[in-house]
Amino acid sequence: MAPIFKPESDKQFFAPFGPTMGYFRMPDELVEQLNAQMTDQLRDHSDNLVGKVRQELAFDEATIGIAGQALSQVVCEYHIWSKKRHLFGATTGERINVNLEIAAGWFVRQFENEYNPLHMHTGCTLSCVGYLALPDGIEAEWEEDYKDHHPSHGHIQFAHGTDTHYSFSNFMVKPQVGDFYIFPSHMFHCVYPFKTVGERRSFSMNMIVHEEKV
Ligand SMILES: [Fe+2]
Repeated sequence: MAPIFKPESDKQFFAPFGPTMGYFRMPDELVEQLNAQMTDQLRDHSDNLVGKVRQELAFDEATIGIAGQALSQVVCEYHIWSKKRHLFGATTGERINVNLEIAAGWFVRQFENEYNPLHMHTGCTLSCVGYLALPDGIEAEWEEDYKDHHPSHGHIQFAHGTDTHYSFSNFMVKPQVGDFYIFPSHMFHCVYPFKTVGERRSFSMNMIVHEEKV
């Protein structure tokens, strides 16, 4: 059945169109665990990726296990919330179980003057980014950049569609260690370079939420 809107109060503004974003604050222990997993033993993954960055290292099975254990719940909640948002509070009566498949995961090691061109992810329906490390002193660079009318150093920018009246097409995220974002895999994004010497380390995963009727 097509989604049908019913007002819930005398005055309401709502945003029924466009993609859903998810945010989750990762526990410090998870950040530590994932950082400890990043070793020279990991396979180079850069031939599959567009990043103009020092290293992109594929998750091994153990790392996928750690990430899956810690993050499956919030990714599945994102999936269910997004479905419900589209229904305007109606219920379908359908009962489903969901489980998360992590098709791939990798660390992104970006250093000063490197960047990640505009791209999207394929072979999955969902993607994500989590932040694991930032160069010492980048806050000073950001303070300076934020004096500009369009700060972007080391930020990720997400874009969908095009700007029209009352419909916005893009926004920027300032990376913070421990922050984790979920987004549809078809959503364009890019990462801008920064100047502070050191490593901006993140990870991404390509994921699919499988539904099973119960
Ligand atoms: Fe990406």
